[in-house]
Amino acid sequence: MNEKVKTFCVLLLLLLVVVVVAGLLVSCGSSEEQTVGSLKYIPDYDLISVGNTTSLKGTDLLPVLSTLRYFPDRFARKSCYVFSVIKGGKYLLRTTYYYGGFDGGIEPPVFDQIIEGTKWSIVNTTEDYANGLSSYYEIIVAATGKNLSVCLARNENTTSHPFISALELELLEGSVYNSTKFTEYALSTVARTTFGDDSSNMISFPDDQFNRLWQPYKDQNPVVNSHFNVTSSDFWNIPPVKAFASAITTSQGKSLQIKWPPVSLPSSRYYIALYFQDSRTPSPFSWRVFSVSINGNDFYKDVNATTKGVTVTGSEWPLSGQTEITLTPHNNTLVGPIINAAEIFQILPLGGRTHTRDGSPFLFHLHLYTAASSENQILTTLSVLCYIVISMELLANNFKNPPSDWIGDPCLPYENSWTGVTCSKDKLARVITL
Ligand SMILES: *[C@@H]1O[C@H](CO)[C@@H](O)[C@H](O)[C@H]1NC(C)=O
Ligand SMILES: *[C@@H]1O[C@H](CO)[C@@H](O)[C@H](O)[C@H]1NC(C)=O
Ligand SMILES: *[C@@H]1O[C@H](CO)[C@@H](O)[C@H](O)[C@H]1NC(C)=O
Ligand SMILES: *[C@@H]1O[C@H](CO)[C@@H](O)[C@H](O)[C@H]1NC(C)=O
Ligand SMILES: *[C@@H]1O[C@H](CO)[C@@H](O)[C@H](O)[C@H]1NC(C)=O
Ligand SMILES: *[C@@H]1O[C@H](CO)[C@@H](O)[C@H](O)[C@H]1NC(C)=O
Ligand SMILES: *[C@@H]1O[C@H](CO)[C@@H](O)[C@H](O)[C@H]1NC(C)=O
Ligand SMILES: *[C@@H]1O[C@H](CO)[C@@H](O)[C@H](O)[C@H]1NC(C)=O
Repeated sequence: MNEKVKTFCVLLLLLLVVVVVAGLLVSCGSSEEQTVGSLKYIPDYDLISVGNTTSLKGTDLLPVLSTLRYFPDRFARKSCYVFSVIKGGKYLLRTTYYYGGFDGGIEPPVFDQIIEGTKWSIVNTTEDYANGLSSYYEIIVAATGKNLSVCLARNENTTSHPFISALELELLEGSVYNSTKFTEYALSTVARTTFGDDSSNMISFPDDQFNRLWQPYKDQNPVVNSHFNVTSSDFWNIPPVKAFASAITTSQGKSLQIKWPPVSLPSSRYYIALYFQDSRTPSPFSWRVFSVSINGNDFYKDVNATTKGVTVTGSEWPLSGQTEITLTPHNNTLVGPIINAAEIFQILPLGGRTHTRDGSPFLFHLHLYTAASSENQILTTLSVLCYIVISMELLANNFKNPPSDWIGDPCLPYENSWTGVTCSKDKLARVITL
């Protein structure tokens, strides 16, 4: 093994670790840093090269919502932000939209958002905006490379310019939501709820270490407060202690029924996590057993909710329309069933990823080191890291004036491929012409 190559690879590895980003808060269209509580939002100009920026009038707006970036180029197939990330890292990405009549109109434009090569969702902020609210969307996705792109694109219903107010990226711990195969799916948040909380405040950072947002939910069921603080790390997905402070319950012998999430769901598969804790002061008798069903189907039998708490999850649950969760007490339990918090995500199949190591004459591979012997595992790992690929993205840099949409995935989604690039329709899409 050549010592120089070895040293080079180690240096390269160190460099990789230094330049990657663990998390980033971005105020789109802003020219300066903004501080919100203990969080710092940076301007977006280093992450994007297209679009125009503007400030909204109105003195009482949150600083992060008071500026935005919009994309007036009608011919761009998509407009992308690119984050440099840890390859394989699991990220929570949140996009926030507040229209504010920036284009002189009265209704927000409707458009698409794209994560990597996958159409994530339609952005329709009309109802929230009419209610004086900003809108946010959230997705959990693993980075397949060292860049993570999130793009906005026009669709047939887009009347004005796509726009965005804020972007938040958080690196999650590996164990969080780990029953999902993130090489094939992303999780798009439908609801993250703390039950029985009648304040209007969401739980966020620093209560939630990943800055996940937990919305309060209250219905006609009785509310109880917890007499014992749980330990987040005792639970799957590390929910914040504060999400357990309140709960909804019902009287002894009765079933607890909740219509949650409070929206009608499109027919799809969902990841569901439910969090329970017995609210009483810890004692040998402070636990309760009940069964959970969703729309009449058994979800989990005989959950034992102790004062330490418990998570139950369903990793691929088919749902559509309004959902009803029913907690049915075990015959001998002297207290009613209880629920503290819950999360539900739509499972989004990834559209694939454009194969950048194509046999195009523009592209070449650079092998710095190929493991000829299997003398040790670390060297093999290093060799993989040292296998540098000059990609389509680099190719874009070689053109003097590449089209403004030559950022993000070249081919995917197909209707938002780079201008002038024709792509084949394999699952691993390839560039076929330029
Ligand atoms: C966007 O900015 C460009 C360059 O600054 C300018 O020429 C163009 O008129 C602006 N477009 C809109 C719709 O404001
Ligand atoms: C956007 O949402 C509003 C309110 O929910 C709805 O009336 C409208 O049809 C939606 N627009 C599109 C293009 O989907
Ligand atoms: C445009 O809006 C109509 C009516 O809301 C809807 O049926 C259609 O699917 C929308 N198209 C796109 C691309 O979202
Ligand atoms: C997910 O994380 C939990 C908690 O760390 C661990 O017990 C479990 O084995 C992990 N599951 C998978 C599929 O990695
Ligand atoms: C739980 O922790 C919070 C914040 O540290 C504290 O205010 C509260 O009193 C604690 N509750 C109990 C029951 O110990
Ligand atoms: C529930 O958990 C408690 C505490 O671990 C235990 O004492 C009790 O026996 C359990 N109940 C059942 C029905 O498993
Ligand atoms: C609970 O009680 C009902 C009626 O008394 C009985 O039919 C049922 O089998 C009991 N269930 C359990 C789990 O003991
Ligand atoms: C990552 O994005 C940056 C900035 O857009 C670009 O210069 C670079 O070539 C990209 N790298 C890869 C490996 O895609």
